[in-house]
Amino acid sequence: MLSIASQIVSDSKRDIFPQAEKSFDSSKRDLLSVLLKANMSTSVPAHQRMSDAELIAQIPTFVLAGHETTSNSTSWALHSLSLHPATQRKLRAELFTLSSENPTMEELNSLPYLECVVRETLRVHGPVAFMDRIATQDDVLPLSRPYIDKAGKSHDTFPIRKGQIIHMSILAFNRDTEIWGPDAGEFRPERWENVPSAAGAIPGMPHPNLFSFFAGQTNCIGYRFSLVEMKALLFTLIRAFEFEPAVPKSSIGHGAGFIHSPIYLDEPERGSTLPMILKPVNKQEY
Ligand code: HEM
Repeated sequence: MLSIASQIVSDSKRDIFPQAEKSFDSSKRDLLSVLLKANMSTSVPAHQRMSDAELIAQIPTFVLAGHETTSNSTSWALHSLSLHPATQRKLRAELFTLSSENPTMEELNSLPYLECVVRETLRVHGPVAFMDRIATQDDVLPLSRPYIDKAGKSHDTFPIRKGQIIHMSILAFNRDTEIWGPDAGEFRPERWENVPSAAGAIPGMPHPNLFSFFAGQTNCIGYRFSLVEMKALLFTLIRAFEFEPAVPKSSIGHGAGFIHSPIYLDEPERGSTLPMILKPVNKQEY
């Protein structure tokens, strides 16, 4: 990965700075070219510029943070849709209301059921299962309801020591039955048409009730891109194919890695795997 990333950086530098620093090709707008140009700008003091090693390190970050997350989310969306054929047909019918084969971002964002399907996928199958934080100082965490300790004493705050690791399960939060109701673990996109008021307290992005991109100052930098990327992929795939499960639902599980990918439990040695049956869509039916 590092040798490929080094090659990409040196190729990009050559492409956008063909002769001298001042005559760069301003038409290049991919992420790396924009970063390289900003880094070379004369307005950036030398000590604030990224080194080549730092530039190269951005590439694996975006491959893991940007590619693995969205591609696995899309796989989970297809898996959920394959298990819910009526939902899949309803989504396809909405997608065929657009005549364009290449919809704009605004057109994709105008489709309400597609929005519900994407949000519901990220709620039930958010690819980042948890985040950890380390307390930089002693603190006291206020609780929404008290807990009873071993001695039977009630507490409405929780003391935190400096250096303590706080483990936050995104999936447990997203599937909490006290927030989402008894069917919290089920894939039901319609729930987003009437969000329970308890979900309003979740500190998430881009909606206050979705925790998958986390929250706070370092929340996911790519969430807008990711949402529209998933929509574009589903738009093309669901209009072209009917997706059916190729193996029983109980044979598909979550991988154990940091990014939750689907695995085929009968053959776990294959790594991320999702057997599916694809049939061409009969467009006359829509
Ligand atoms: C379904 C898709 C995605 C999910 C669920 C997701 C989730 C997350 C989460 C939970 C974090 C940690 C936030 C925190 O620590 O507060 C994060 C950080 C990050 N994400 Fe995403 N992400 C997704 C897609 C993307 C995409 C498409 C990109 C880039 C194009 C991206 C780039 C990043 C980067 C660079 C960070 C680190 C931000 C920082 O530390 O300041 N992510 N993401």
